[in-house]
Amino acid sequence: MSVIAVIGSQWGDEGKGKAVDFLAERADYVARFNGGNNAGHTVINEFGTFKIHLVPSGIFARNAVGLIGGGVVVDPAVLIEEIEMLNRAGVNVDGRLWISPRSHLIMPYHKILDGLYEEAKGAGATGTTRRGIGPVFADKVGYNGIRWTDFAGDAFESRLKTQLELKNKIIAALGGEALRFESVRDEYRGHYEKVKPYLKELFSIVQDGLKANKTFLLEQAMGTFLDTDWGTYPFVTASTTIPSAASAGLGIPPKYITNVIGVTKAYTTRVGAGPLPTEIHDAESDAYKKFGEVAATTGRIRRVGWLDLEIVRTAAELSGMTEICLTKLDVLSGLKEIQVCTGYKMNGKSVRYADVDAYGLDKVEPVYESFPGWSEDIGKAKSFDELPVNAQKYARMIEDAAGVPVRWIGVGPKREETIRR
Ligand code: GDP
Ligand code: IMO
Ligand code: MG
Repeated sequence: MSVIAVIGSQWGDEGKGKAVDFLAERADYVARFNGGNNAGHTVINEFGTFKIHLVPSGIFARNAVGLIGGGVVVDPAVLIEEIEMLNRAGVNVDGRLWISPRSHLIMPYHKILDGLYEEAKGAGATGTTRRGIGPVFADKVGYNGIRWTDFAGDAFESRLKTQLELKNKIIAALGGEALRFESVRDEYRGHYEKVKPYLKELFSIVQDGLKANKTFLLEQAMGTFLDTDWGTYPFVTASTTIPSAASAGLGIPPKYITNVIGVTKAYTTRVGAGPLPTEIHDAESDAYKKFGEVAATTGRIRRVGWLDLEIVRTAAELSGMTEICLTKLDVLSGLKEIQVCTGYKMNGKSVRYADVDAYGLDKVEPVYESFPGWSEDIGKAKSFDELPVNAQKYARMIEDAAGVPVRWIGVGPKREETIRR
């Protein structure tokens, strides 16, 4: 049996979707355990190109069963649209996608409040995806959430009524438009009817799977440094993103997690506000132009920076990483010189990530080492030996710094553009 957690080791968008898609062929279960549709995971395979927000990216593997754990927050309309989209694409999910009735629903007021809070914070805004993530998790831990189980009995309507009374007051105070009970109730009852066939308590599925030595692939959403506790608070997301989240969010006891794969981009990106020590500001530079990406969920332009080894090292330590999947190495091709941050200095002294808070991290001075680049297009490389010597050195330098072997290297966005080492 293996229980493999796939974790982003930076600020999200490391290429987890692609990694999970190609690892899923040997999985019995593919699961999401945290976050919500703030995630945007890109998968490019024989079925087409997909930006997936809620369904596990491993669902394309015919024999895999998809699980959405209770730790995930679900926007029902997004889920329904995603299921329909996958079915249209020929990826039949019926009978092999199960959603925990414990999962909380993103309600219309969560999305409205997310936007109103962001606007109220002005220059101090988080730069959220405005999908309602912060407000829904706040309601979850504040005992104000609405879960799928509430629809089975009478709880839904009474809880919604109470919440709307509370939320409409806040919305009105912040200048927003109040929501009508009847229209929210009817809309969500409609969603429930569509989602009902996919709702199933996951406890015995997970327990039986563990007892039967099945292989689980656990797909984290967001990245290590968006974790509520260990990320760059308050510029983080509202859920735990480190592997321990799979324990609460799916019901997998920690002792069963056998592998933690750290998906690591060959450079760094970040969407939204918050510190990014190695950020490249020169929009005319070759690196800036090469690293540029458009966010899969919001369509925003991602901020870019050089690879930060202190970040990767810290992620490896926090998550007990056992392997690295290095992604987007191909993007570095053509750069004469590649800068890599090996650590930070503050007032002349070395500091580690954990020594400073987000505001301190914004002030650290990255210490750079320069690596010679390579000019060859590596998109067709099938083995580590086929890579230019400097690309091999770059990968080795990362595993030395993190103390974790690089087992896979992405040389393009498609599933097969992956080197197994
Ligand atoms: P995720 O949120 O971690 O799943 O990552 P995203 O899908 O948001 O962003 C990663 C982007 O990089 C997507 O556009 C992927 O198609 C792309 N990608 C992933 N791996 C590679 C790779 O090895 N090379 C290249 N060129 N693109 C990649
Ligand atoms: P995947 O799974 C990158 C960022 C947002 C914002 C902060 C809080 O595709 O890697 P939220 O909407 O969660 O309240 O926003 O977190 N963020 C992500 N950045 N990739 C993601 O997911 C993200 N999910 C949230 O940009 O800075
Ligand atoms: Mg993404």
